Amino acid sequence: LPHDEVYIETTDYRVIGDAIRVLKIRGAPAIGVAAAYSVVLAVHDPKITSLQDLNTEFYAAINFLSQTRPTAVSLFVALDRMRHLYEQVSHNSILGSQFHLLAEARLIQHEDIESCRKIGEYGAALISPKSTILTHCNTGGLATSGIGTAQGIITTAAQEGKIQRVYADETRPLFQGARLTTLELMKENIDVVLITDGTAGMLMQRREIDAVVVGADRVAANGDVANKIGTYQLAVLAERHMIPFYVAAPTATIDFGTKTGKDIPIEERDPAEITHVAGIRIAAEGVSVFAPAFDITPNQLVTGIVTEVGVLKPPYNESIGKLRPQQLRTAEAAS
Ligand code: MRU
Repeated sequence: LPHDEVYIETTDYRVIGDAIRVLKIRGAPAIGVAAAYSVVLAVHDPKITSLQDLNTEFYAAINFLSQTRPTAVSLFVALDRMRHLYEQVSHNSILGSQFHLLAEARLIQHEDIESCRKIGEYGAALISPKSTILTHCNTGGLATSGIGTAQGIITTAAQEGKIQRVYADETRPLFQGARLTTLELMKENIDVVLITDGTAGMLMQRREIDAVVVGADRVAANGDVANKIGTYQLAVLAERHMIPFYVAAPTATIDFGTKTGKDIPIEERDPAEITHVAGIRIAAEGVSVFAPAFDITPNQLVTGIVTEVGVLKPPYNESIGKLRPQQLRTAEAAS
């Protein structure tokens, strides 16, 4: 994308795992949903003829998929849900396990669609009429099962007539903003302007941005946010210019077990993603490269975290802490 829309059909979970690794499937919620369905494919392998085979295939898939990308917690939440369910039902029959795992994957997908819708509603309520929004990376339909998280807010606010313009960071080095966000927003007839990542500060200085809205790959228990590299500098700039900085994140993105952003593993990518653009080398041969895929925005810079159960406000230790029992109850009810 944006040049060709190509669909890859497969029944092999390894093909999907590889697609996640090379970002053919990307965006935290989409990764989680794809991983859940990959587990379903694994247990439908025609080679499985006994409960022993089922067990081997199931855990091989969980193991393989959990090593695809380290930062987006939705991947691990989805795999944990599949494992938890499997451990309850796997002693019965192959067919029964296949049935229950498919139902769980569908539930994860359905919850993602609903979360996006509700995040859109809660987030749009924060946007003033005639707003110009700055966003980073891609958080829309290509990153989720629904209308998107940060982009769901933009879409919903646009439907309410509140959006004047969206500035989309190109999002170096893989250009999710340039390739995907602008494509999606143009399809929705939203006025979108593509900028380099370095242009954001100038626009804020000129008072041309009313709010920054971004997604998240993982939110720590204290509200620190891991998101696409370049997010932190936007948050610092937004504070400097007194512009609200909103993070859109389904509660499945909150990692209650991770105390602060320092504990979030940050993925490092292949240096070639920086030294090359569209396969053409742009940096000198042999240059050293540092290629983190994400950065951490400290909670003090986050105006609000928009979830499907409402907008969380500082102090996040408290607002996230209150959410925890509620989320655990929901998980228990679902299982
Ligand atoms: O490396 P990517 O493209 O998977 O990174 C995606 C992001 O950083 C998104 O902002 C985040 O996953 C939220 S997607 C709704």
